[in-house]
Amino acid sequence: MKAIIITGGAGFIGSHVVRLFVNKYPEYRIINVDKLTYAGNLANLKDIEDKPNYRFVKADICDFATIHRLMEEEQVTSVIHLAAESHVDRSIKDPFTFAQTNVMGTLSMLQAAKLYWETLPEKYEGKRFYHISTDEVYGALELTHPEGIESPFTTKASSEHHHAYGEKFFTEDLKYMPHSPYSASKASSDHFVRAFHDTYGMPTIVTNCSNNYGPYQFPEKLIPLFINNIRHRKPLPVYGKGENVRDWLYVEDHARAIDLIFHKGAIAETYNIGGFNEWKNIDIIHVLIKTVDRLLGRKEGEDLDLITYVTDRAGHDMRYAIDSRKLQRELGWEPSLQFEEGIEKTVRWYLDNQEWMDRITSGEYEKYYEDMYKNR
Ligand code: NAD
Ligand code: DAU
Repeated sequence: MKAIIITGGAGFIGSHVVRLFVNKYPEYRIINVDKLTYAGNLANLKDIEDKPNYRFVKADICDFATIHRLMEEEQVTSVIHLAAESHVDRSIKDPFTFAQTNVMGTLSMLQAAKLYWETLPEKYEGKRFYHISTDEVYGALELTHPEGIESPFTTKASSEHHHAYGEKFFTEDLKYMPHSPYSASKASSDHFVRAFHDTYGMPTIVTNCSNNYGPYQFPEKLIPLFINNIRHRKPLPVYGKGENVRDWLYVEDHARAIDLIFHKGAIAETYNIGGFNEWKNIDIIHVLIKTVDRLLGRKEGEDLDLITYVTDRAGHDMRYAIDSRKLQRELGWEPSLQFEEGIEKTVRWYLDNQEWMDRITSGEYEKYYEDMYKNR
């Protein structure tokens, strides 16, 4: 019997991972530990909240005593750790919260698991501490080919336009070079996870994934923010020249990769997860405008004039591009959705779930949004 703590399960990616595990593995007990910060939302899990193999516990991962008690009470066999502060712009304004949650919170999870597992006769046997991290720890790649070159690699997620904007990709053996307080805090947490393997023999795994998109993403991130703004005909704040490149993966494909790696990944290994699907921000924004316009029955492209160039993000990383061939080769992972299908599905989801969006974007959110964009 597996009892798995999934942290951050009320957030964007976490809710997809919780849903997948609860539905796919009725024989496992899934304990979702989430503090419900502004980014946590139990409405993301409405469809599974009454399942007998699911429990929600509202707790702060930094609260070591509570986490340790929960490990004992539930006889936890594994941890899949997603809880984090995740938004780069917020980290620029408030780095302390990122160090606290992402570094100290991860350390608290590791230490609680260690102290509990070390009391058991079998100790670490059959246990797993799986840490979910980001490609941003590798820093930024250069935009050596602004017009795009034919990509040397491909997966099902690769878009029809299928370009690479440079020859280099993030591989698992690259040196960490984080630039933002967010990525510095994630890099530090990755180091702690590996240190617990190397020092105490804890069975850890780390994965570093590229940008996710899909349902239930908090509308401070590019794709849901812009879909909502286009719907309301609000300005679309494009940082800098809109030339920055991100490598996009549909969130359910990330959740499927997490499932596969949790069950089949090798202890102490790192796997990069990405779909070989690079896009310049401005090109994605054009696709979003056209898709929203079409689905709302507006003239396609009619909202292009909402594009508003604003002051760039401080330290804005130019290009992320993941090399996920190790995961494909060793575990046979393939994304299931092509980008064009994923974007259509995503835009439809946000337009069909306006109540979900309206609840989040009322009250406190307006103040956040105003503060964030006041001086841009
Ligand atoms: P999110 O911001 O949508 O959700 C984070 C969740 O963590 C929320 O439910 C929040 O309430 C919870 N949380 C925050 N602080 C907590 C604390 N102290 N104790 C307990 N719970 C707390 O984040 P996301 O985009 O779903 O990202 C999840 C994880 O995946 C993060 O670790 C992030 O670094 C990583 N990641 C994200 C992406 C992406 O594109 N979103 C890509 C790669 C990796
Ligand atoms: O690469 C993985 C990372 O992807 C995750 O680790 C992070 O948790 C996740 O937030 C995401 O980080 P980004 O900074 O790439 O995502 P964001 O949606 O904030 O921005 C995507 C790009 O769009 C980035 O180049 C900045 C730009 N942008 C963003 C916003 C919110 C704009 O031009 N305007 C905006 O208003």
